Amino acid sequence: MNNDILKILISQDEIKEKVKELGQLITKDYKDKDLMVIGILKGCIVFLSDLIREINLPLTMDFMVVSSYGSSTKSSGVVRIVKDLEKDIAGKDILIVEDIVDTGLTLSYLVEYLKSRNASSVKICTLLEKPDRRKAEVDLEYVGFHIPDEFVVGYGLDYAELYRNLPFVCVLKPEVYS
Ligand code: XMP
Ligand code: MG
Repeated sequence: MNNDILKILISQDEIKEKVKELGQLITKDYKDKDLMVIGILKGCIVFLSDLIREINLPLTMDFMVVSSYGSSTKSSGVVRIVKDLEKDIAGKDILIVEDIVDTGLTLSYLVEYLKSRNASSVKICTLLEKPDRRKAEVDLEYVGFHIPDEFVVGYGLDYAELYRNLPFVCVLKPEVYS
């Protein structure tokens, strides 16, 4: 697996420090709210599990699966809800946790969807974002790192379902994709 890596973009230590910082900010901002964390599977899993342990508040959690990519590295722009929420979210202060915001198409759709289900508030926390790629307008309240337009894997992000377990964010060698 390590032979496939071209370069490490964000190290394990940098991620750890940033996650702590985000957790402290969220703890402060949601002190008097009814926080519900919604993870977008599967990319969120590593980030979410580290982040919630840095949030020092009572919170509930749910997960959604949406399809936008398949196994290719290009966004289709089509959003389909594959797994919906399990409970009512009316009155909840929702924090969507994502691995990466690319075009923003997935999240702009999801924010509207969650608002239509009468959440009190809907905000976004994403580990990564690619500012050059935005097609849909989305407010990103909490962002870990802004990265260039390169396909990245690790810390939950995959290529063809592999590499999610790498503890850092990296770029793969071009030959891995061919
Ligand atoms: P949009 O374009 O709607 O899509 O913002 C966000 C989703 O696209 C996937 N994505 C990536 N996955 N490395 C990945 O492993 C990347 O560089 C990358 N860019 C986008 C990801 O699933 C995200 O939720
Ligand atoms: Mg994702």
